[in-house]
Amino acid sequence: MTDMDFQALEKEAREAIQQAHKADDLEALKVKYLGKKGSITALLKQVSQVPPPERPVFGQKVNQLKHLVQSLITEQQTKLAGDPDHDPGFDPTLDGIKPAVGSLHPITRTIREICVIFSRLGFDTVDGREIETEFYNFTALNIPLDHPSRDAFDTFYTPQGYLLRSQTSTVQVREMKRRKPPLRILAPGRVYRPDAVDASHSFMFHQIEGLMVDQKTNFADLKGVIHLFLKQLFGEKLKMRFRPHFFPFTEPSVEVDIKWGERWLEVLGAGQVNPMVFKYAGYPPRRYQGFAFGLGIERIVMLRYGIKDIRLLFENDQRFLEQFR
Ligand code: DAH
Repeated sequence: MTDMDFQALEKEAREAIQQAHKADDLEALKVKYLGKKGSITALLKQVSQVPPPERPVFGQKVNQLKHLVQSLITEQQTKLAGDPDHDPGFDPTLDGIKPAVGSLHPITRTIREICVIFSRLGFDTVDGREIETEFYNFTALNIPLDHPSRDAFDTFYTPQGYLLRSQTSTVQVREMKRRKPPLRILAPGRVYRPDAVDASHSFMFHQIEGLMVDQKTNFADLKGVIHLFLKQLFGEKLKMRFRPHFFPFTEPSVEVDIKWGERWLEVLGAGQVNPMVFKYAGYPPRRYQGFAFGLGIERIVMLRYGIKDIRLLFENDQRFLEQFR
């Protein structure tokens, strides 16, 4: 290794380092000269083989070259890092940016859960209409012309003679006109009533209507299905009771209560489909039997999550909604 050789190696390294414009390239040069199999490292290993008189000078030169190359590389690294156009690449040590992930509204969640429970029993989920006719909202459900719920104080009417449905029961005759039994349907959706808004009332809320019709679907089927449903929603230990009631579209009709602590709370209305409703659907007399039920979703959401004021469900306050993830 002559002085000329040392100078040539130094020149080569200096030029290569100055031309490196990427961190990866610098890293490769570091390996090339100073790595385990690098050329300068190889020279260092040769020091012991140099005849003793020349050894100190040779050693010094190799060491000088080593330190020079090291500092040239560091210098170039610093230069690249300070260059605003230089992309330092991905830095895994930086904090990440947390994406703002949304979540389902507790009402949507509860509706979906209920639909899943009933889908296991063979019920399809169907859509109804929010703007309806008097026929599907009242007449087809055997609700007499003088019934108070038809009053403008209890139902929103449009100037064109339509109305905002006040119950999801409207889907009963709509669907029965579209298909023949056997049928098992579930219809979730919004309903509207001109109630003054307070902690337990809203002019808009959600219901789910259920309808099962076949040749011999009876009251025992109704009770079995409702009991199974309530147990799946509220837990196996749930206690329920059927209480006689009146609805024009079911006969006999019941209200269903569940035991909540020390109290009985009404959660849904149900009954055997009134033959008048089958008549409005256009079914032949006495051919079919079935049951229907309807429940309010907000009631159930409020019970399950311990929500005391219905308005919280509609104000879209993120601090409230964020709790349901
Ligand atoms: N539509 C009723 C209401 O809004 C709920 C209801 C009761 C639905 C009995 C039914 C039923 O299908 O059989 O209060």
